[in-house]
Amino acid sequence: MSSLSTYLHEITNFSATNREEVEQFRLRFLSKKGILAELFAAMKSIPAEEKKQYGAQVNELKQAAEAKLASFQEMLEAAADQAAATDIDLTLPAEPLTLGARHPISLIRERILQIFSRIGFTVADGPEIEDDWHNFTALNFPENHPARDMQDTFFIEQRGGSDSIALRTHTSSVQVRVMESTKPPIRMLMPGRVYRNEAISARAHCFFHQVEGLYIDEGVSFADMKQTLLYFSREMFGADTEIRLRPSYFPFTEPSAEMDITCELCKGKGCNVCKYTGWLEIMGCGMVDPNVLQNCGIDPERYSGFAFGMGIERIAMLKYDVKDLRLFSENDLRFLRQFSAEN
Ligand code: DAH
Repeated sequence: MSSLSTYLHEITNFSATNREEVEQFRLRFLSKKGILAELFAAMKSIPAEEKKQYGAQVNELKQAAEAKLASFQEMLEAAADQAAATDIDLTLPAEPLTLGARHPISLIRERILQIFSRIGFTVADGPEIEDDWHNFTALNFPENHPARDMQDTFFIEQRGGSDSIALRTHTSSVQVRVMESTKPPIRMLMPGRVYRNEAISARAHCFFHQVEGLYIDEGVSFADMKQTLLYFSREMFGADTEIRLRPSYFPFTEPSAEMDITCELCKGKGCNVCKYTGWLEIMGCGMVDPNVLQNCGIDPERYSGFAFGMGIERIAMLKYDVKDLRLFSENDLRFLRQFSAEN
């Protein structure tokens, strides 16, 4: 009798995790030569008065074994389903890997930084949310200058604060930060995104990118600026590029100039890209105004320098012959896939 309860215990605790173990269970208990068959066969030799109880117990044991086998089979089926769902056929051809491409703005920015790094310029960074001092006042913008007007600048409302802060309208603000924190000589490039409250069109956007340059040392002259920008233009646009400086006005430089390069497309003959002038404007530049040096704690009696600022989109449009500025920020992959460091 005790062997029956031992078997029941064994059935209850039998653990099987794969097909072989389940088969071992079936063979041991439920096959033709298994324990249950034996126990039923032994019925003959059980004394008549015990037969009924014995029979009931063996039946109970059989039901327990069958239930256990059924639960094992269910477990095996569930495992098989799961394996089928996650099965990877390693012999199938692989999915093609599509490589991304660098964004044209980032390609041109890298190219500009690389050209200037060869003549000792390093890179500095500044915040996109800027205060009035760094974006305007330190740069010698008169109090009533139109660039401070709501039309150009995205001002940011500050709870309780009185200092006016805004999204920077140019990377010239980083010049101020660099001069405030660095002793000359300074040879620095400052790339970044800038914001202006302008209607979006093929030629204007409410945000775009600039690279600012600053060179401060003793005895830096306008001729140094001209030669540095000629070197840059020829590296960027080709060895036969010529430059032209036209007088201009920026509050933070004196004298100020706008720089043109010879039109690469028509080689100066005149075409619709250069509006039949043979020249393309690519940056603003000038000698840093002594007031600005003073504002930033640099002695204008001892030091002088030049600064320049260019729009990356503008240069990318010229280099890649892109006619609409909006394409750079629309993330259309058909557009973005066309650019590589080589072209
Ligand atoms: N900050 C000017 C702009 O956004 C560009 C510029 C002009 C930068 C002359 C300069 C500079 O550093 O010297 O239009």
